[in-house]
Amino acid sequence: MSTRININLRNGDTLFYLEQLSQNVSLIDFSCSIKEYHDYLIDEALRSQEDHIALTWLLRERSSDTIIAYMSLIADAVKLSLTEKELHNLKYPFKTLPAMKIAKLAISQTAQKKYKGIGSYMIDNALALARICNRQLFSARFLTVDADIEHDKGVLIFYEKNGFISNIELNKNRKTISMRKDIYG
Ligand SMILES: CC(C)(COP(=O)(O)OP(=O)(O)OC[C@H]1O[C@@H](n2cnc3c(N)ncnc32)[C@H](O)[C@@H]1OP(=O)(O)O)[C@@H](O)C(=O)NCCC(=O)NCCS
Repeated sequence: MSTRININLRNGDTLFYLEQLSQNVSLIDFSCSIKEYHDYLIDEALRSQEDHIALTWLLRERSSDTIIAYMSLIADAVKLSLTEKELHNLKYPFKTLPAMKIAKLAISQTAQKKYKGIGSYMIDNALALARICNRQLFSARFLTVDADIEHDKGVLIFYEKNGFISNIELNKNRKTISMRKDIYG
């Protein structure tokens, strides 16, 4: 693991490219350590996309054209308390604020052996897409996620390291931890 290549925004764009999931894409090579995330891509992602439930982006390695990660994005709304809103300097009389959500994110097992930082690079890509939406299509102040601690408690650390914080109001008796990152904070 010590020889893994560190990925950041600069070398990431040289080594990889994003592609939207489509009918013609072969997914058989993708393998994720968590079965649910593997099965979702193979069995569910295309149907969800065609039903306008979740749009999936694949990350491909340029040199091999292999799929090394994917994320599914959806529109979201996040409920924040007065204190939480103040934290972002958002003094509005309503609780619910617009967001874009990472509904699924997974890195392939093979890629994790070769690279370090792909997960963070995918988050950077989600932020870039959210900024495009904000400039051209609709407003989404936050990037949100339900951190899936049922499968791996460590994902909380992963998201915290990427600047996400827990949504206090929403986290009562849940198998996942609702988190947000201020895209413009
Ligand atoms: C969670 C996941 C996306 C992280 O991707 P990754 O490429 O390993 O993450 P990165 O290399 O960008 O990690 C960034 C930082 O978070 C830490 N981190 C990543 N995953 C972690 C985990 N499971 N536990 C603790 N820390 C973790 C890394 O050590 C790194 O810290 P550092 O910068 O101090 O070295 C990936 O492990 C994965 O696909 N898991 C299976 C599916 C899954 O759980 N998806 C998320 C569901 S909400």
